[in-house]
Amino acid sequence: MKNIGVLISGGGTNLQALIDKQGSVIKSGRIVCVCSNSADAYGLTRAKNAGIPTKVIRKNADCGGSINELNRQICAYMKEMNVDVIVLAGFLAILGGELLEEYADRIVNIHPSLIPSFCGDGYYGLKVHEEALKYGVKVTGATAHLVNEITDGGKILMQKAVEVQEGDTPEILQKRVMEQAEWIILPEAVEKLCASL
Ligand code: GAR
Repeated sequence: MKNIGVLISGGGTNLQALIDKQGSVIKSGRIVCVCSNSADAYGLTRAKNAGIPTKVIRKNADCGGSINELNRQICAYMKEMNVDVIVLAGFLAILGGELLEEYADRIVNIHPSLIPSFCGDGYYGLKVHEEALKYGVKVTGATAHLVNEITDGGKILMQKAVEVQEGDTPEILQKRVMEQAEWIILPEAVEKLCASL
């Protein structure tokens, strides 16, 4: 059994999918902690409801505004909790330094597009879907990938395509991509990684 640490910044619907699929899809690991860089992320409530330990580490309030210090403190917490695999489930800060070295090839991110489209610095959350609609693509989707020093540039683990429909707004498209792709492939990719270690 691998120990999974989940990093979040917001609503945590991907975290919920991971929680719900423990024991069914995720058989080779279990979530041992959830860490958020925002104190009011609803995902923290989801974790507490599931009895999972949580911690808040904020760049400004706890790390003097330093991204390096944020990474250092997250890394220290992951090690303290004996985490083997880190999952970025809607975590919207950029990871680097010690954390990437320590957990090389053991960090999974979920991104709401088919990489290499609509990804990289500045592409997160609703913005990704706004850009996909602006471009006029007819198919989009989600990608679960390993995290390295290039934003959204690590090895692809799984992808799933989702159709864009006439009249979609970014919000409608975001929900469809979550339901039909993200919540399915993220637990599968996490299981695959845990089972391979
Ligand atoms: C998800 O759509 C996730 O793919 C995206 O943020 C959302 C978080 O929702 N992540 C990125 O854009 C990363 N570049 P959630 O908090 O409900 O899981």
